[in-house]
Amino acid sequence: MRAVNIGLIGLGTVGSGVVRLIQKHHDEYVEHYGVDLCLKRTCSRSDAEAQRLGVIDTFTTDWHDVVSDPDIDIVIELIGGEHPATEIFEESFKAGKHVVSANKALLGRKMEHLASAAAERGVAIKCEAAAAGGIPVVNALEHNLIANETLTIAGIMNGTTNYILSRMEAEGSSFEDVLADAQAAGYAEADPTADVDGFDAASKIAILASIGFRTRITTDDVYMQGIRAISSIDMEMAKEFGYAIKLLAIARNTDEGVDVRVHPTMIPRNHLLASVSGAMNAVYVVGDAVGETMFYGAGAGSFPTASAVVGDVMALATPISQGRSPLPESEPFGHNL
Ligand code: HSE
Repeated sequence: MRAVNIGLIGLGTVGSGVVRLIQKHHDEYVEHYGVDLCLKRTCSRSDAEAQRLGVIDTFTTDWHDVVSDPDIDIVIELIGGEHPATEIFEESFKAGKHVVSANKALLGRKMEHLASAAAERGVAIKCEAAAAGGIPVVNALEHNLIANETLTIAGIMNGTTNYILSRMEAEGSSFEDVLADAQAAGYAEADPTADVDGFDAASKIAILASIGFRTRITTDDVYMQGIRAISSIDMEMAKEFGYAIKLLAIARNTDEGVDVRVHPTMIPRNHLLASVSGAMNAVYVVGDAVGETMFYGAGAGSFPTASAVVGDVMALATPISQGRSPLPESEPFGHNL
C-alpha cells in the first residue's frame, strides 16, 4: 500500500468539510480499505481557514503549486465558477492527475470538452458532489443502474427553492417575503438568480441526464423556468386540489430524444417527491428493469457534500493504493468517448 496524495483547491464550506472528514476518518480508511489519504497541498485565497483546520503547512495561495506538484495523484477542485476552474482541470489532466469536483456550473456546460481532455490523458473526472450534494445518485446512475435503460430522472435538486416553496406553502407567505427572510438567515445567496431562476437545477439535471441516458446534455439544452412567478394564490389552489408545487428538474426519454427541463410542477400529494420539504433534495429515477427508485438527502452543506467528494476520492484512491489505474470504471463521463 502506498499513500495517495491529494491536492485540495478551495477551502470554503465544502473544502473545509473535506479536510475535517479526512482528518476524522483517516485511520479507518487505512484500517478498513487499505487507503492512506495524504492531504499534501491545500489552496485558497486566504490562509485563515488553513490555520483553523491545522493544515497551514500544506497551504499555498497559488493553484499552480498544487497541479504542478509531481507527487499529487488527485486534485480536488472546489472553487466553483468557470475560471480558473477550467484551467485547473486542464492543467491537472496534462500533469496526469485525476480530478474530483463539485463544480456543477462548469460540468453542466463543458462536460464533453473536459471528459475528452481527461480521456486523452488517461485520467478520470469524478463529480458525485456536483448533482444533489450528498445524495449518491451519480454513482447509482453510472454503476448500480447500468443494467437498465433509464426512462426518467426527476428531482428536487435545489434546496434554496424547495425551502422557499415549502415555507410559502406552510405559511401562505409571498415569494418575495420568504426570499428576503431566507437571505437574512443565510439560507439563500445575496444574488439568488442561479437558484430561483433554475440555472442551478439545470446544471445538475444536465449532468445526471448525460450520465443516466449515456448522452451529452449541456445546461443550454435545458428548458428553464424558475419560481419567481409563483404566488401564494397558486400555492393555495394547488393545496386545495391535492397538489404540491415543486421546482422539478426532469429528464425523460422520448421518441424525439431526451427531453430535459426545469420548471415549477404540480405534484400529487401522494407522490414521494411531494413530501420532500425544506432545503432537502430528492431524485426519482425510473429504469426499465428496476422500476421506481428514490434517493433522498442533503443537497448542500459542508459534511454532506464532503461525503460525496471524499467518496469519489476513495473510489480513485483504492486502486491507486494497490498500484492499479482507477480507469475505466471510475469515469462517469467515459461513455461514448
Ligand atoms: N444553491 C444550491 C442549493 C447549493 O440551494 O441547492 C447546492 O448546490
